[in-house]
Parts: sequence; C-alpha cells; structure tokens
Amino acid sequence: MKSYSIALIPGDGIGRDVTSAAWTVLEMAAQHSGFCLTATEFPWSCRFLKETGRMMPEDGIETLRGFDAILLGAVGWPAEVPDSVSLHGLLLPIRKAFVQYANIRPHRLLPGVTGPLRAEGFDILCIRENTEGEYSGAGGRVHQGTLDEVAVETSIFTRAGVERILRFGFEQARTRRGKLASVTKSNAQKYSMVFWDEITRKLAADYPDVEVTSYHVDALAARMIMAPESLDVVVASNLFGDILTDIGAAIQGGLGYAASANINPDRSAPSMFEPVHGSAPDIAHLGIANPIATIWSGAMMLDDLGEKAAAERVMKALEATTARGVGTIPGKDKTDAITAAVVAALN
Ligand code: NAD
Ligand code: IPM
Ligand code: MN
Repeated sequence: MKSYSIALIPGDGIGRDVTSAAWTVLEMAAQHSGFCLTATEFPWSCRFLKETGRMMPEDGIETLRGFDAILLGAVGWPAEVPDSVSLHGLLLPIRKAFVQYANIRPHRLLPGVTGPLRAEGFDILCIRENTEGEYSGAGGRVHQGTLDEVAVETSIFTRAGVERILRFGFEQARTRRGKLASVTKSNAQKYSMVFWDEITRKLAADYPDVEVTSYHVDALAARMIMAPESLDVVVASNLFGDILTDIGAAIQGGLGYAASANINPDRSAPSMFEPVHGSAPDIAHLGIANPIATIWSGAMMLDDLGEKAAAERVMKALEATTARGVGTIPGKDKTDAITAAVVAALN
C-alpha cells in the first residue's frame, strides 16, 4: 500500500485542536482511498521553548527534510513568548529553508456559510510570495534604549524571487478563469514595487492568454470587499499577501475557514500545510475552534501529494457538512462535533 510520512506540528493554542481534527479526517480519507498516512508528531511550540530554550531543536530543519509533507497548526503564545521570537524560531525558518516560495490561499464560500458580504459568487486564489520581500529579516537596531535609537528593516526583492512567484501565478491563472491581479504599491515605493510591476509586464508577454491587471494594494483591499467576484488569481508580496488573505478569510466567513499551502514547487524539500489563522489564545482550551480551515489545508496536502481523489473527497465532505448547517455559525458547534460531521460525510 502506498504510504506518506507526514510531520505533524500542532504548535500552540488551538493549533493542537485543529491539527488533531484534521488528522482524524485525513486518516479516514486515506483509508477510503487505499493509501496510508503516517504521522510523526513534534511538540515544537512555545512550551517547548520554555522547556528547552528553543522553538525547535538545532537540527529541526534537517529532521523535517525527510518527510513527504508537514501539517502545522499554529505558532505563538504572546503572553509568554514574544511573537518575534516564536515565529522566527519555527514557522518562518521552515518556509525559507524549504524554499516554500508559493503560499497558496483560496478564498470562497462553503455552502451554507454566510459571509459578511452580500456578494456571493467569488472564488479568489491568493498567491503570496513566501520567502523574501518584507519578511527577509534583514535589519537591525542600534543605540537601543537611547534617544538616538534607530531601527531598520529592509525589504529585499530579487529578480529570481519576483519572477518565480509571478510565473507561478500566471500558470495558476491559466488553469482557472485566466485573470491575474498583480499587487504592488508602486506609486509610493519607487524601487522594489516598480521592479515588481516591470517584471509583471515582462512576463505578461509569455502569457498572452492571461488577462493581467496591476493594482495598488490599497485599491485591491477595497476591491476584495466591494467586488470580490471580479478577482481570480491575486499575486502579492509577502506582507501584502499576509494582510490581503486575512481580508479573504473575513469575506469567506472568518478565519476558521481560510486554508493555506506553503508550496515548494520544485519539490526539492517538503511543502507545509496550515490554516491562515493563528493560535487564537482568546478561545484556546474552549473546544470551539473551527477545524474547517485546517481540514481544507489537509485536502490541499493530499492534492499536492498526488492523491487527487482523496483531496476531492475531503472537500466534498466539508461542503456536505456546511451545507447541513454544521460549522456555519462561529462558536455554535464544538470542534469535535464539526469533525465528527465531516468524518460521517466522508463515509
Ligand atoms: P488569530 O488568527 O490567532 O486570531 C484572530 C481571531 O480569530 C481571534 O478572535 C480568534 O479567536 C479567531 N479565530 C482564529 N482562528 C479561529 C478558528 N479556527 N475558529 C474560530 N475562531 C478563530 O490571530 P492573532 O490573535 O493575531 O494571533 C494569535 C497568535 O497566533 C499570535 O501569537 C500570532 O503571532 C500567532 N499567529 C500564528 C499564525 C501561524 O502560526 N500561521 C498565524 C497568525 C497568527
Ligand atoms: C500567516 C501569519 C504569519 C505570517 C505570522 C504568524 C508570522 O500571519 O501565516 O498569515 O505573517 O506569515
Ligand atoms: Mn497572517
């Protein structure tokens, strides 16, 4: 029987609940489709840092490299560990080390979920650059704590990095409705963002079948709310993509529905699948976290592993669940009840 080895990193807060829910569904889907998923769980988290002094062991990246994929819950417990330490100690280094440069985030309504907008028929695929840009981590602070203090954090945009993410977006647009929105702020940022716009224009010549529009990020943010149905594939830099995908989550009903895949398109290292949301300390331990975003991310993982039928099966089960009104109202159904309904719908 075909078998895939998955590294499970539940992380902090509701990360534990939603990964456990997703794993239950994924294992069942694998069983139905005649393949096997094996999980190796890693307790890397803010608690792990308290115990060991690190978010993950020194050889954490090398340990993960051997897996077929990584399923992650959420990282962060800001009451005890500064986010700048926890995220730079676990989540962000994985995205960079494994060259998961394409962060794919689908935004559409599941049946029975009423988003806050009157508009309904939208289906947006956000593609976020995931390894450089505003998240490059280049910078520093000098004269700390004095009146002369200076803090610098420099965005780094490389031709290779911008080209590959835009190309990825163009290719995705080809398989969908043929529209690509390239997002910058080139009216204000006259080096990096003008550079991005130039590369967009240059690549457009290779994709005459794709209709390309360049938007400024402020206008695109408004468009996602006012006319989301006008958008197909949206490609943005790391920080812009981060912010736009929380808007995407909001219009699809909330953070409990927004899935995410950190893809290494070259397959030179494992890809990582996780919800868009974080550890939600405000609802941690209440058993009411919506597991749908993580289950959907798990379906993206099955799809990426080549198990298309199983991925489809999980998506159909999610759709059947919300169509019955389960998991459609925030806080109404418990995590376990939603999970049980999805498992029942798989059968
Ligand atoms: P958050 O996404 O954790 O929560 C924002 C709001 O959405 C909260 O009110 C929360 O209760 C709600 N929410 C989130 N997921 C939900 C779900 N599945 N079901 C129901 N409600 C849900 O964002 P935050 O509060 O800004 O961050 C909390 C911590 O998580 C911080 O440490 C932050 O850095 C971290 N974080 C991690 C990731 C990640 O690991 N990928 C992503 C975002 C935030
Ligand atoms: C996300 C998160 C992360 C990001 C944080 C936790 C560093 O918000 O995955 O959207 O900004 O990439
Ligand atoms: Mn985010």
